[in-house]
Amino acid sequence: MADQEATGGGGDRPRVFSGMQPSGEAHLGNYLGALQQWVQLQESYECYFCIVDEHAITGEFTPAELPDRVFDLAVSFLAVGLDPERSTIFVQSDVPEHVRLAWIFNAVTPVGDLERMTQYKDKSSRRESVPAGLLNYPILQAADILLYRAQKVPVGEDQVQHLELAREIARRWNARFGTLFPEPQAILSQAGRIVGLDGAGKMSKSMGNTVGILDEPEEIWARVRTAVTDPQRIRKNDPGRPEVCNVFSLHQHFTPAERIPDIEGQCRAGTRGCVECKQILAENIAEHFAGTRERARELKAHPDRVREILDAGAARARREAAQTLDEVRERMGMVWRGRLQPTGRPG
Ligand code: TRP
Repeated sequence: MADQEATGGGGDRPRVFSGMQPSGEAHLGNYLGALQQWVQLQESYECYFCIVDEHAITGEFTPAELPDRVFDLAVSFLAVGLDPERSTIFVQSDVPEHVRLAWIFNAVTPVGDLERMTQYKDKSSRRESVPAGLLNYPILQAADILLYRAQKVPVGEDQVQHLELAREIARRWNARFGTLFPEPQAILSQAGRIVGLDGAGKMSKSMGNTVGILDEPEEIWARVRTAVTDPQRIRKNDPGRPEVCNVFSLHQHFTPAERIPDIEGQCRAGTRGCVECKQILAENIAEHFAGTRERARELKAHPDRVREILDAGAARARREAAQTLDEVRERMGMVWRGRLQPTGRPG
């Protein structure tokens, strides 16, 4: 049975699953690294997009803030164009099958595999007491994906290792209990690594180096003006090196292609100062997200609509998830009622 090819979930279109932690309104890193691509994938795949609150609680978090973070990320999802008519958009903890399958995968995954994960090593080294959830995090991620028998998973470079482990879990479970799960493949984000405004590391909320996609134009400018540029450019007319400048790399995402040679050329020649260059960038970012801001305003004015969309998404996800979990439990001998036979034993 184990050498048989598992069929993925979904009908004629292959299925995609991806998740994002509820860190509130999305920022440029979330957008370029994930959301922009998710919107495109809806054209050719049957998509599940999940707000992973059960992953979020494995790190530092404030309970009072979590509901808003979930809601604000949902608004961002919808405002950029994730479409609840075509895709299943939901909150992880609304579908209890995720943790149930994760527990089952806990039983078939060697601790050594988890301890080897780069993200685990990095995060655990910075903590005095390491929650078991941090170690088991990739198991929950594997459960997210395999619960829907998704074939494709759009992720950034930093999640490739977790996805390899998800494949390994699928292989191991299939070998032992009979082929059920397809081995999910990554769709790597084309945007590459999105560096924060400080030019130091990955753009992330906890680093405070982001620009929010729903920020108003003044806020965008206030953020972008603080961006670090080529450190060798000290005076306004010094020649710059666009290839090392993060402002230039953002221009490549948000400034119309026909204007890029001018941005690049003037930087190299030192004929346009960094402040003006940043002003152009801020305007183009604001312009790019004008429609998104408008849709977000509308959604925030009608929070019930957002709730209804997430409720409907969770209901749809649960139907699918329950089928997979039933099959898993059946094959593992965890459905015992159907096996009851009178044996004629006395008393
Ligand atoms: N771990 C992912 C991240 O931090 C989020 C995530 C959770 C995810 N479950 C997933 C991504 C399933 C893809 C598929 O970015």
